[in-house]
Amino acid sequence: MTRSSSQPDTNSPGRHRKKPTASAYRQPLYYEIAFSFFDVPKQVRLFETFVRLHGRREVRTILDIACGPSLQLREFVRRGYACIGLDLNREMLDYVKSKDARIETVRGNFVRFALPAKVDLAFILMGSLMVSSNEALLSHLDSLAGAMRRGGLYIIENAHLNWAAFGTEEVERWTTSRDGIEVRATYDTEPAAPLEQLYREWLLLEVDDHGRIAAYRDERLVKAIFPQEFKSLVSLHGKFEFVGFFERSSTRRLKEARNDNLVVLRRK
Ligand SMILES: C[S@@+](CC[C@H](N)C(=O)[O-])C[C@H]1O[C@@H](n2cnc3c(N)ncnc32)[C@H](O)[C@@H]1O
Repeated sequence: MTRSSSQPDTNSPGRHRKKPTASAYRQPLYYEIAFSFFDVPKQVRLFETFVRLHGRREVRTILDIACGPSLQLREFVRRGYACIGLDLNREMLDYVKSKDARIETVRGNFVRFALPAKVDLAFILMGSLMVSSNEALLSHLDSLAGAMRRGGLYIIENAHLNWAAFGTEEVERWTTSRDGIEVRATYDTEPAAPLEQLYREWLLLEVDDHGRIAAYRDERLVKAIFPQEFKSLVSLHGKFEFVGFFERSSTRRLKEARNDNLVVLRRK
Protein backbone atom coordinates (compact mmCIF):
# COMPACT_ATOMS: atom_id res chain seq x y z
CA MET A 1 0.00 0.00 0.00
CA THR A 2 2.77 2.44 0.99
CA ARG A 3 1.86 6.06 1.39
CA SER A 4 4.16 8.56 -0.31
CA SER A 5 4.74 10.60 2.80
CA SER A 6 4.23 9.85 6.44
CA GLN A 7 2.52 12.32 8.69
CA PRO A 8 3.21 11.76 12.37
CA ASP A 9 0.20 10.36 14.17
CA THR A 10 -0.75 12.65 17.00
CA ASN A 11 -3.36 10.25 18.35
CA SER A 12 -2.57 8.47 21.54
CA PRO A 13 -2.35 4.72 20.87
CA GLY A 14 -5.53 2.85 21.65
CA ARG A 15 -7.77 5.88 21.70
CA HIS A 16 -10.25 4.19 19.39
CA ARG A 17 -9.33 0.66 20.40
CA LYS A 18 -12.16 -1.71 19.43
CA LYS A 19 -12.13 -5.24 18.03
CA PRO A 20 -12.34 -5.14 14.19
CA THR A 21 -15.77 -6.23 12.98
CA ALA A 22 -15.44 -6.36 9.18
CA SER A 23 -13.12 -5.80 6.23
CA ALA A 24 -11.67 -2.33 5.76
CA TYR A 25 -12.39 -2.78 2.03
CA ARG A 26 -16.14 -2.82 2.65
CA GLN A 27 -16.08 0.67 4.16
CA PRO A 28 -15.77 3.02 1.17
CA LEU A 29 -16.33 6.28 3.03
CA TYR A 30 -13.87 5.50 5.82
CA TYR A 31 -11.38 4.10 3.31
CA GLU A 32 -11.69 7.28 1.24
CA ILE A 33 -11.18 9.51 4.28
CA ALA A 34 -8.03 7.54 5.19
CA PHE A 35 -6.64 7.58 1.62
CA SER A 36 -7.36 11.11 0.42
CA PHE A 37 -3.88 12.45 1.07
CA PHE A 38 -2.78 12.89 -2.54
CA ASP A 39 -3.40 15.38 -5.33
CA VAL A 40 -5.75 13.53 -7.71
CA PRO A 41 -5.79 16.06 -10.62
CA LYS A 42 -1.96 15.99 -10.57
CA GLN A 43 -1.94 12.18 -10.59
CA VAL A 44 -4.40 12.11 -13.51
CA ARG A 45 -2.27 14.63 -15.47
CA LEU A 46 0.78 12.44 -14.80
CA PHE A 47 -0.99 9.39 -16.25
CA GLU A 48 -1.93 11.48 -19.32
CA THR A 49 1.75 12.38 -19.67
CA PHE A 50 2.74 8.71 -19.49
CA VAL A 51 0.23 7.97 -22.25
CA ARG A 52 1.77 10.73 -24.42
CA LEU A 53 5.33 9.51 -23.77
CA HIS A 54 4.89 5.73 -23.84
CA GLY A 55 1.41 4.88 -25.13
CA ARG A 56 0.75 3.88 -28.72
CA ARG A 57 -2.90 4.77 -28.92
CA GLU A 58 -5.42 7.46 -28.13
CA VAL A 59 -7.22 6.89 -24.85
CA ARG A 60 -11.00 6.89 -24.76
CA THR A 61 -11.81 4.17 -22.21
CA ILE A 62 -10.06 3.70 -18.87
CA LEU A 63 -10.11 0.83 -16.39
CA ASP A 64 -9.32 1.20 -12.68
CA ILE A 65 -8.56 -2.25 -11.27
CA ALA A 66 -9.36 -2.74 -7.56
CA CYS A 67 -10.89 0.70 -7.88
CA GLY A 68 -12.20 1.17 -4.33
CA PRO A 69 -13.81 4.64 -4.07
CA SER A 70 -11.70 5.70 -7.10
CA LEU A 71 -11.11 9.43 -6.79
CA GLN A 72 -9.14 8.94 -10.03
CA LEU A 73 -12.03 7.63 -12.17
CA ARG A 74 -14.20 10.43 -10.79
CA GLU A 75 -11.60 12.90 -12.12
CA PHE A 76 -11.11 11.07 -15.45
CA VAL A 77 -14.87 10.91 -16.10
CA ARG A 78 -15.11 14.68 -15.50
CA ARG A 79 -12.46 15.05 -18.22
CA GLY A 80 -14.63 13.20 -20.72
CA TYR A 81 -13.15 9.69 -20.68
CA ALA A 82 -15.35 6.59 -20.53
CA CYS A 83 -14.51 4.89 -17.22
CA ILE A 84 -14.87 1.39 -15.79
CA GLY A 85 -14.15 0.44 -12.18
CA LEU A 86 -13.48 -3.20 -11.27
CA ASP A 87 -13.62 -4.33 -7.65
CA LEU A 88 -14.39 -7.41 -5.61
CA ASN A 89 -16.56 -5.55 -3.14
CA ARG A 90 -20.07 -4.40 -3.98
CA GLU A 91 -19.88 -1.64 -1.32
CA MET A 92 -16.98 0.04 -3.15
CA LEU A 93 -18.75 -0.17 -6.51
CA ASP A 94 -22.06 1.18 -5.18
CA TYR A 95 -20.17 4.05 -3.57
CA VAL A 96 -18.23 5.01 -6.70
CA LYS A 97 -21.44 4.83 -8.75
CA SER A 98 -23.21 7.07 -6.24
CA LYS A 99 -20.43 9.63 -6.75
CA ASP A 100 -20.76 9.64 -10.54
CA ALA A 101 -23.34 7.51 -12.32
CA ARG A 102 -21.37 7.77 -15.59
CA ILE A 103 -18.73 5.40 -14.19
CA GLU A 104 -19.45 1.84 -15.22
CA THR A 105 -18.78 -0.74 -12.51
CA VAL A 106 -17.88 -4.40 -12.81
CA ARG A 107 -17.81 -6.71 -9.83
CA GLY A 108 -15.05 -9.27 -10.14
CA ASN A 109 -11.75 -10.69 -9.03
CA PHE A 110 -8.80 -9.13 -10.86
CA VAL A 111 -7.11 -12.55 -11.01
CA ARG A 112 -9.68 -13.61 -13.63
CA PHE A 113 -12.17 -11.19 -15.12
CA ALA A 114 -13.87 -10.05 -18.32
CA LEU A 115 -15.12 -6.59 -19.25
CA PRO A 116 -18.10 -5.39 -21.31
CA ALA A 117 -15.79 -3.22 -23.48
CA LYS A 118 -12.08 -3.02 -24.37
CA VAL A 119 -10.03 -0.32 -22.67
CA ASP A 120 -7.11 1.86 -23.83
CA LEU A 121 -5.53 2.54 -20.42
CA ALA A 122 -5.63 0.51 -17.21
CA PHE A 123 -4.20 1.19 -13.78
CA ILE A 124 -4.10 -0.41 -10.35
CA LEU A 125 -3.21 1.91 -7.50
CA MET A 126 -2.00 2.01 -3.92
CA GLY A 127 -0.22 -1.34 -4.02
CA SER A 128 -3.44 -3.19 -4.82
CA LEU A 129 -1.84 -5.75 -7.15
CA MET A 130 -1.70 -8.29 -4.34
CA VAL A 131 -1.64 -11.86 -5.64
CA SER A 132 -0.78 -15.06 -3.82
CA SER A 133 1.26 -16.74 -6.57
CA ASN A 134 3.01 -16.20 -9.91
CA GLU A 135 0.20 -18.19 -11.55
CA ALA A 136 -2.31 -15.65 -10.22
CA LEU A 137 -0.24 -12.81 -11.69
CA LEU A 138 -0.12 -14.56 -15.09
CA SER A 139 -3.87 -15.14 -14.96
CA HIS A 140 -4.37 -11.45 -14.13
CA LEU A 141 -2.22 -10.43 -17.12
CA ASP A 142 -4.19 -12.82 -19.34
CA SER A 143 -7.53 -11.32 -18.32
CA LEU A 144 -6.21 -7.81 -18.79
CA ALA A 145 -4.67 -8.62 -22.17
CA GLY A 146 -8.12 -9.79 -23.29
CA ALA A 147 -9.66 -6.54 -22.07
CA MET A 148 -7.10 -4.08 -23.54
CA ARG A 149 -6.48 -2.67 -26.98
CA ARG A 150 -2.98 -2.92 -28.44
CA GLY A 151 -0.67 -0.05 -27.54
CA GLY A 152 -2.52 0.77 -24.33
CA LEU A 153 -0.61 1.29 -21.08
CA TYR A 154 -1.01 -0.57 -17.82
CA ILE A 155 0.19 1.50 -14.84
CA ILE A 156 0.82 -0.32 -11.56
CA GLU A 157 1.32 1.96 -8.56
CA ASN A 158 3.35 0.99 -5.50
CA ALA A 159 4.48 -2.48 -6.42
CA HIS A 160 6.46 -3.87 -3.49
CA LEU A 161 9.84 -3.43 -5.24
CA ASN A 162 12.04 -2.76 -2.24
CA TRP A 163 12.43 -6.39 -1.23
CA ALA A 164 15.67 -5.68 0.66
CA ALA A 165 13.65 -3.75 3.25
CA PHE A 166 11.09 -6.52 3.92
CA GLY A 167 10.47 -6.97 7.60
CA THR A 168 12.42 -3.87 8.58
CA GLU A 169 9.95 -1.22 7.40
CA GLU A 170 8.26 0.68 10.19
CA VAL A 171 4.56 0.31 10.76
CA GLU A 172 2.75 3.22 9.06
CA ARG A 173 0.15 5.15 11.08
CA TRP A 174 -1.79 8.24 10.16
CA THR A 175 -5.02 9.99 11.12
CA THR A 176 -7.40 11.87 8.84
CA SER A 177 -10.67 13.65 9.58
CA ARG A 178 -13.57 14.84 7.48
CA ASP A 179 -17.05 16.12 8.40
CA GLY A 180 -16.72 15.01 12.01
CA ILE A 181 -15.44 11.52 11.13
CA GLU A 182 -11.95 10.63 12.29
CA VAL A 183 -10.14 7.64 10.79
CA ARG A 184 -6.92 6.30 12.27
CA ALA A 185 -5.18 4.00 9.80
CA THR A 186 -2.43 1.47 10.50
CA TYR A 187 -0.65 -0.49 7.80
CA ASP A 188 2.11 -3.06 8.13
CA THR A 189 3.73 -6.04 6.44
CA GLU A 190 5.76 -8.93 7.82
CA PRO A 191 7.44 -11.94 6.23
CA ALA A 192 5.21 -15.04 6.48
CA ALA A 193 6.64 -17.94 4.43
CA PRO A 194 10.05 -17.07 2.93
CA LEU A 195 10.34 -20.16 0.71
CA GLU A 196 7.06 -19.28 -0.98
CA GLN A 197 8.03 -15.56 -0.90
CA LEU A 198 4.81 -14.86 0.99
CA TYR A 199 4.36 -11.91 3.31
CA ARG A 200 1.42 -10.88 5.45
CA GLU A 201 -0.06 -7.44 4.85
CA TRP A 202 -2.73 -5.83 6.98
CA LEU A 203 -4.67 -2.60 7.14
CA LEU A 204 -6.63 -1.46 10.18
CA LEU A 205 -9.07 1.46 10.14
CA GLU A 206 -10.16 2.67 13.58
CA VAL A 207 -13.08 5.02 13.22
CA ASP A 208 -14.76 7.61 15.38
CA ASP A 209 -17.90 8.53 13.45
CA HIS A 210 -19.55 11.22 15.56
CA GLY A 211 -18.90 9.21 18.71
CA ARG A 212 -19.69 5.81 17.19
CA ILE A 213 -16.47 3.82 17.56
CA ALA A 214 -15.68 0.95 15.20
CA ALA A 215 -12.68 -0.88 13.73
CA TYR A 216 -12.23 -2.61 10.38
CA ARG A 217 -9.35 -4.79 9.29
CA ASP A 218 -8.14 -6.45 6.13
CA GLU A 219 -5.37 -9.05 6.23
CA ARG A 220 -3.99 -11.21 3.47
CA LEU A 221 -0.99 -13.27 2.39
CA VAL A 222 0.72 -11.76 -0.63
CA LYS A 223 3.41 -13.16 -2.91
CA ALA A 224 6.45 -10.91 -3.08
CA ILE A 225 7.33 -10.71 -6.76
CA PHE A 226 10.83 -9.35 -6.98
CA PRO A 227 11.60 -6.75 -9.68
CA GLN A 228 13.57 -8.98 -12.04
CA GLU A 229 11.17 -11.88 -11.46
CA PHE A 230 8.31 -9.55 -12.42
CA LYS A 231 10.06 -8.55 -15.66
CA SER A 232 10.68 -12.21 -16.52
CA LEU A 233 7.04 -13.15 -15.85
CA VAL A 234 5.84 -10.30 -18.08
CA SER A 235 8.24 -11.37 -20.81
CA LEU A 236 7.26 -15.07 -20.51
CA HIS A 237 3.59 -14.16 -20.56
CA GLY A 238 4.23 -12.41 -23.85
CA LYS A 239 1.29 -10.04 -24.28
CA PHE A 240 2.79 -6.95 -22.61
CA GLU A 241 6.07 -5.09 -23.05
CA PHE A 242 7.87 -3.87 -19.96
CA VAL A 243 8.22 -0.07 -20.28
CA GLY A 244 9.95 0.64 -16.98
CA PHE A 245 10.09 1.26 -13.24
CA PHE A 246 9.35 4.94 -12.54
CA GLU A 247 9.04 7.32 -9.61
CA ARG A 248 5.53 7.54 -8.24
CA SER A 249 4.97 11.22 -8.97
CA SER A 250 7.07 11.92 -12.07
CA THR A 251 8.10 10.35 -15.36
CA ARG A 252 11.66 9.82 -14.10
CA ARG A 253 12.95 6.25 -14.08
CA LEU A 254 13.79 4.73 -10.70
CA LYS A 255 17.46 4.65 -9.83
CA GLU A 256 16.91 2.36 -6.84
CA ALA A 257 14.17 0.06 -5.51
CA ARG A 258 11.39 2.02 -3.76
CA ASN A 259 7.94 0.97 -2.66
CA ASP A 260 6.41 4.21 -3.89
CA ASN A 261 6.70 3.74 -7.62
CA LEU A 262 4.94 3.26 -10.93
CA VAL A 263 5.57 0.16 -13.01
CA VAL A 264 4.48 0.64 -16.61
CA LEU A 265 3.60 -2.08 -19.16
CA ARG A 266 2.29 -1.69 -22.70
CA ARG A 267 -0.15 -4.09 -24.40
CA LYS A 268 1.58 -5.55 -27.47
C1 LIG B 1 -5.89 -0.83 -1.31
S1 LIG B 1 -7.56 -0.67 -1.91
C2 LIG B 1 -7.27 0.40 -3.29
C3 LIG B 1 -8.43 1.27 -3.62
C4 LIG B 1 -8.17 2.38 -4.61
N1 LIG B 1 -7.76 1.85 -5.91
C5 LIG B 1 -7.12 3.36 -4.11
O1 LIG B 1 -6.15 3.60 -4.83
O2 LIG B 1 -7.27 3.91 -3.03
C6 LIG B 1 -7.79 -2.20 -2.56
C7 LIG B 1 -9.13 -2.45 -3.26
O3 LIG B 1 -8.99 -3.68 -3.96
C8 LIG B 1 -10.17 -4.43 -3.84
N2 LIG B 1 -9.74 -5.81 -4.04
C9 LIG B 1 -8.97 -6.58 -3.21
N3 LIG B 1 -8.70 -7.76 -3.79
C10 LIG B 1 -9.30 -7.75 -5.01
C11 LIG B 1 -9.37 -8.68 -6.07
N4 LIG B 1 -8.78 -9.88 -5.97
N5 LIG B 1 -10.05 -8.34 -7.18
C12 LIG B 1 -10.67 -7.12 -7.28
N6 LIG B 1 -10.63 -6.19 -6.30
C13 LIG B 1 -9.96 -6.50 -5.17
C14 LIG B 1 -10.71 -4.09 -2.47
O4 LIG B 1 -12.11 -4.30 -2.39
C15 LIG B 1 -10.34 -2.61 -2.37
O5 LIG B 1 -11.38 -1.79 -2.85
